[in-house]
Amino acid sequence: MTKLSMYESLPFDEATAPSLVSTGELPQADQVRDAVTEAYERYRANGDGAVANYIPALASASPGLFGICVVGTRGRFFEIGDVETAFSIQSVSKPFVFALVCDAIGYETARHRLGVNSTGFPFNSLMAVELNEDRTMNPLVNAGAIATTSLVPGDTAEEKWERIRDGLSRFAGRELTLSDDVYRSESATNMRNQGIAHLLDSYERLYFDPDEATDVYTRQCSLDVTVHDLAVMAATLANGGVNPVTGVTVIRPGVCRRVLAVMSSAGLYELSGDWLYQVGVPGKSGVSGGIVTVAPGKGGMATYSPPLDAAGNSIRGQLATKYLAERLGLNLFASVPAEGSPPQF
Ligand code: DON
Repeated sequence: MTKLSMYESLPFDEATAPSLVSTGELPQADQVRDAVTEAYERYRANGDGAVANYIPALASASPGLFGICVVGTRGRFFEIGDVETAFSIQSVSKPFVFALVCDAIGYETARHRLGVNSTGFPFNSLMAVELNEDRTMNPLVNAGAIATTSLVPGDTAEEKWERIRDGLSRFAGRELTLSDDVYRSESATNMRNQGIAHLLDSYERLYFDPDEATDVYTRQCSLDVTVHDLAVMAATLANGGVNPVTGVTVIRPGVCRRVLAVMSSAGLYELSGDWLYQVGVPGKSGVSGGIVTVAPGKGGMATYSPPLDAAGNSIRGQLATKYLAERLGLNLFASVPAEGSPPQF
């Protein structure tokens, strides 16, 4: 198999050049409020999809739950619906743990050890591990996510776990805690993830004990959050790594942009291309029904609604996010023909 790789030495990074950015602003507060309210009213009656049941503790979530929260990079927010309901973060944890690892070991080292390309396979695919010479393709599918967790600094599982819990809490701006129910339920049913971890270990692409790495990964997926927490976490990624509510620097700006790049190519797994085509903003979904989207420089958005489509993505969440990406002007690829004449370039 020929190994493809990008030409390695790109000329600039944030260490050698000032951070010029290509972003604008969210609309005025009343427009954000109107758009979010409309998205909520428009989709709250949607009854499509099914609540995840492969983890028994998730199956009891009420299918009617629906919440939306938008947080700007100055810390203002607007939210509606079930914004105080706690649910387990699941795969939405993956980009944030990747961010912590990049910050700790450097984003280039992380790229070499984990990969940053999409797989074209479902999130829990073993085929993707077998067919790809590097074994892990990116930190957002389970193989790469468990490998990412194994790279979190710490000599013991407990130290790694505390580092993750503390790091994700700094992203959220409050102490996050474990859902014991979900952790126990997922631990009793995650043989597939244990299999992935052992397979990676056999290829020397896991960096900690496979059972312990899977256990810490399961704990990270079982952290309880609200849709408000997720939107603050997303807004931190939109704000160069500084939490816009607490003012705490969580990660460096150069890490932020690499995390968003991977979210763009792999955040919605094998449907990431469709997502980028239709929504045009980096996103990440989780099987408990959360979706985060990040509009760099502008803000973060999160939705929560448990019923999922066949790929495991929240249906109301996708609809509301797509609607709001248009209404709030979030699509990174949108432009309008230029007006005016030189001296503007
Ligand atoms: O690995 C698992 O099965 C879960 N803890 C996380 C899966 C998940 O959220 C997939 N996302 N859409």
